[in-house]
Amino acid sequence: MPITATHDGWLIETAHTAYVLGINPAGALTHAYWGPRLPDPGDYPAPPNPGPWSAFNNPGQLTPEEYPVYADLKFIEPCLKLSFADGVRDLRLSFGATTLDPDPVPTLQITLHDPTYALVVTLHYRAHERYDLIERSATISNQGTVPVHLERVWSALWHLPTHGRYRLRHMVGRHMDEGNLRHEPLSEGVKSIESRRLSSSHHHSPWFALDRDPTAGLGPAADEDQGEVWFGALAWSGSWQIAAEVTDFGSTRIGIGLNDWDFAWRLEPGSNFTTPSSYAGYSDGGFGLMSRRWHRFVRDIILPQPSQPQPIFYNSWEATLFDVDEPSQIRLAEIAAPLGVELFVLDDGWFIGRHDDTTALGDWQPDPQKFPNGLNPLIERVNQLGMAFGLWIEPEMVSPKSALYRAHPDWVIHFPGRPRTESRNQLILNLGRPDVQDYLIAQFDQLLANHNIRFIKWDMNRNVSEPGWPDAPGAPQELWVRYIEGLYRVWGTLRSRHPQVIWQNCSGGGGRVDLGLMRLADQFQLSDNIDPTRFLLMHESFSQLWPPGITHAWVADVPEPYLSLRFRFHVSMGGVVGIGGHLARWTAAERAEATALIAQYKQIRPLIHGGELYRLRSPHAHAYSARMYVAPDQSEAVLFAFRTHLLPRTPLPPLLLRGLDPTARYQIEGQPASRSGRAWMQTGLQLDLANFESCMLRIQREA
Ligand code: DGJ
Repeated sequence: MPITATHDGWLIETAHTAYVLGINPAGALTHAYWGPRLPDPGDYPAPPNPGPWSAFNNPGQLTPEEYPVYADLKFIEPCLKLSFADGVRDLRLSFGATTLDPDPVPTLQITLHDPTYALVVTLHYRAHERYDLIERSATISNQGTVPVHLERVWSALWHLPTHGRYRLRHMVGRHMDEGNLRHEPLSEGVKSIESRRLSSSHHHSPWFALDRDPTAGLGPAADEDQGEVWFGALAWSGSWQIAAEVTDFGSTRIGIGLNDWDFAWRLEPGSNFTTPSSYAGYSDGGFGLMSRRWHRFVRDIILPQPSQPQPIFYNSWEATLFDVDEPSQIRLAEIAAPLGVELFVLDDGWFIGRHDDTTALGDWQPDPQKFPNGLNPLIERVNQLGMAFGLWIEPEMVSPKSALYRAHPDWVIHFPGRPRTESRNQLILNLGRPDVQDYLIAQFDQLLANHNIRFIKWDMNRNVSEPGWPDAPGAPQELWVRYIEGLYRVWGTLRSRHPQVIWQNCSGGGGRVDLGLMRLADQFQLSDNIDPTRFLLMHESFSQLWPPGITHAWVADVPEPYLSLRFRFHVSMGGVVGIGGHLARWTAAERAEATALIAQYKQIRPLIHGGELYRLRSPHAHAYSARMYVAPDQSEAVLFAFRTHLLPRTPLPPLLLRGLDPTARYQIEGQPASRSGRAWMQTGLQLDLANFESCMLRIQREA
């Protein structure tokens, strides 16, 4: 059992890491340790019990509490802030009881309660032993007779070892410019990253990673291959917050949970509120090992169909935009199939009255001018060609110019009597409402029942404004949570009713990629930006957490002639290959080249989907970048290398490979002789690439 009770607390051990918490002599539930697993249970420190610091700081300010609440003489970021009906906003939690449940995932539950009010907080800790991850969440129970008003309720506070100084790595972006990595030192105060958009968002991503700040002289920084990293993420698709705080006493902690921006929740008597889960882990093998731990966990535990490699698809959006109809799509499908494409996806523009982005969202019947006999003739032709058929939808949205909006103007998120700000000419349906959820389930259930659809691209193309909910059942601000719960219900119900469908998560590209939604989706679209050099950067950034086998980057038509088809394919082949170019304009030579590349991709796809990723040279730092995917048994690997723009005659440095068995011999495609894994990793592979040239090389272990 990886969770054990000790004389003053609990020890949570995973394969390589440990986390310790306990009740200190003052009675506070306190964090004691998070790091590598130590040889003996007695090796771990006891729960700290600091005293006060002058008249200005009580022990509460100095104690690393597991789940601090707003109370006492303390000014740190709390996890829980609430108001009782009588106006009291003070909460004192004392230890109540614990339960330890070994199955299916070992779980520790710690119950804390207030001595005066019938308010109970239960902290959940789950040990994902073989993934070296710990999951935390909290449940707030109102066991009284009057409502309690929640103002903030976070999932967890993760404490870093004391007396350290740290740097925060996180990912920022915008629509068309996702996946920029930042790495910055933390000092006293709060560094907050968040989304206020009712969506996890392009803006920031709900994960963090910390390594040591080398300038503090308190330990070395991490890099790809070595050093200590503490990392975590939130499984939530709505507004969220990560607050990295360094206190006035030098304690570094990361609070993570629902954003309290405009949040409120009326907790009725007898009811509970449970937060989304936060997952966190520790790596002593740098950011590379961190990512490989995430990848295994996401593949095995988060994704709904872990073992399913993603099909190669063609999506007509970049080629035809809204100008779709049966003949034009059949023409593209007839070109796509002989290339080896496995799935043909019809994007936006197929439904009644949809000729541009000003109309029709919400009216999910095929447009009779474009598809006079519905979608089935196109689907049948696609199937005859040997491909599966996929379709684009944007269920959460409605155009003001639509039959749905005319029938139900009150179904959108809005404040009565106030402007309804449109973005891309659309409004957001209030998925917090059960009637809206039921309507969407019925609509799309029927669409899927009546057509042989094997793939759905679920898009979402704006963020929220005027977040009102007239006649909300509780506090109107509950929208922030109820909307996401409604989204999960709609998507989850459709998914369970139509298990044959592969679901792509898209929000104007990578605008809603999080551990919450990826429990329901099989893959995600990285971006609407089709530039392959941007995709190189995004692949690198998103792969901090996400396994490459679910990450789709386009092979699209770009104006820059030096970005060859081969380069574009090689970039996309590092994840899910989805072609978006206008195939009818591709020359015979380009089609032949695409056919050969697709055939190669099919051979290496198991490695992309199930291999271990090693980032050899980052495109964020180097114009010559490379990555490897190594089979879990180290029998084979595939290497991708890219040169963007370097000064002429700059010699390329040797690529130091990673992840091979040092004692085995490996043959690399195009190399005159095999060498030991140790040699390839120690002295490297010399490649010769011109500007904007790329290569894909297979690596085989000798028998
Ligand atoms: C945004 C998506 O990211 C695009 O790929 C495309 O599906 C459009 N929406 C369609 O409106």
